[in-house]
Amino acid sequence: MGFTETSNVLIIGGGVIGLAIARELHKKGVKHITLLEKGAVGQESSWAAAGMLGPQAEADEGGVFFDMTVASRDLYPAFAAELLEETGVDIELDRVGTLYLAFTDDDVTEVHERFKWQRKAGLPVEHLSAADARKAEPFISPDVRGALLFPDDWQVENRRLLAALKRYAEINGIEVHENTHVERLIVEEGSIVGAETETGTFHAAKTVLATGAWTSLIKLGIADLPVKVEPVRGQIVAFQTAKRLFQRVIYSRRGYLVPRADGRILAGSTSEKVEFDKSITESAAARLSEIALEIAPSISSLPVADQWAGLRPYAADGLPILGEIAGIDALFIATAHYRNGILLAPLTARIAADRLVGGTDSKYLTEFGADRFSLRRAGTGI
Ligand code: FAD
Ligand code: GLY
Repeated sequence: MGFTETSNVLIIGGGVIGLAIARELHKKGVKHITLLEKGAVGQESSWAAAGMLGPQAEADEGGVFFDMTVASRDLYPAFAAELLEETGVDIELDRVGTLYLAFTDDDVTEVHERFKWQRKAGLPVEHLSAADARKAEPFISPDVRGALLFPDDWQVENRRLLAALKRYAEINGIEVHENTHVERLIVEEGSIVGAETETGTFHAAKTVLATGAWTSLIKLGIADLPVKVEPVRGQIVAFQTAKRLFQRVIYSRRGYLVPRADGRILAGSTSEKVEFDKSITESAAARLSEIALEIAPSISSLPVADQWAGLRPYAADGLPILGEIAGIDALFIATAHYRNGILLAPLTARIAADRLVGGTDSKYLTEFGADRFSLRRAGTGI
């Protein structure tokens, strides 16, 4: 997928993935970048996220996906510093670390297993006694039985990240068209040459599909796109505190608390297959409050300041979809980041831009290629 500096790129989707790819392409010297967004930029899943950068806290095992999450997390310090310099927006990268608490027998076993494999792999992780966990975070429950401390699992204020990326686009002449819904990709002789919207046609030398949970709704000419992505709704409630109660992101096996600099504590999250319904529900609020109270009973005295929902983009194996579709030229897909799109944005953007500009290969493109489902089916005879 070679490319010249004067070529133009069309990006469809203005979430964290589309915006981060736009920035990276611009940094690589691509002169004409156009981004189409069906609503307003940065208002969907990327806005709804909790902003955790927690590859180690969430991993039961190593592997290519784990490598990708760690590699992307490790790009964040430079990514945050560059964005501040480029746009003046501080994305509030918070590097205090993450705690993972155990309450039940099963939790204790899991914490033990996670500690064992990560230590063996040489990853930074500490096993804390209950007393040490409470010393680190005095407001956690006295029922805690032990904890893992992941000093290199962090958080970012994802809404500020979106603001920074949007500002980058404005400053650098990336053409953003909001309220522009792409209905189909235009195919000519096996190559994508642009996209049709309700308001007109956009042509480009290369097209990037970063359309999150809505990806499978887009047509490939008159056919369906051979990429299956489903929405999985996630809800969060936010409690308000006058002063910050927790320093770190805190997980249990049932959910998480994310303390923000402005005093809010986000409690997440649900995973619901409800098509494209972004409603918030009372039952989710009750469940999320339960999860929060198990971690820190003092939360019961705090008012719920907000509740929201977003649609995570999910592929059948829960892994990202990155790269081209066999037999279709000039199209790059970057979607299905499911629970980790904020974390994976900097590395996804690099992989996409390197591929589009230099034709560079990557083990992640091999592993997470768009054709893997059909290839596996062919390979297994299913
Ligand atoms: P989106 O942000 O949804 O952006 C896709 C964009 O494409 C949208 O703006 C949409 O309007 C646009 N679009 C779609 N179709 C079209 C079309 N036809 N034409 C034009 N535009 C179109 N990830 C983490 O890393 N850490 C977390 O802590 C975390 N917490 C989460 C908590 C919750 C409750 C949820 C819901 C998600 C969380 N995630 C987290 C996951 C993360 O939010 C997603 O993986 C990520 O936002 C996906 O980014 P995206 O750009 O692909 O999707
Ligand atoms: N990664 C957190 C979530 O998706 O809820």
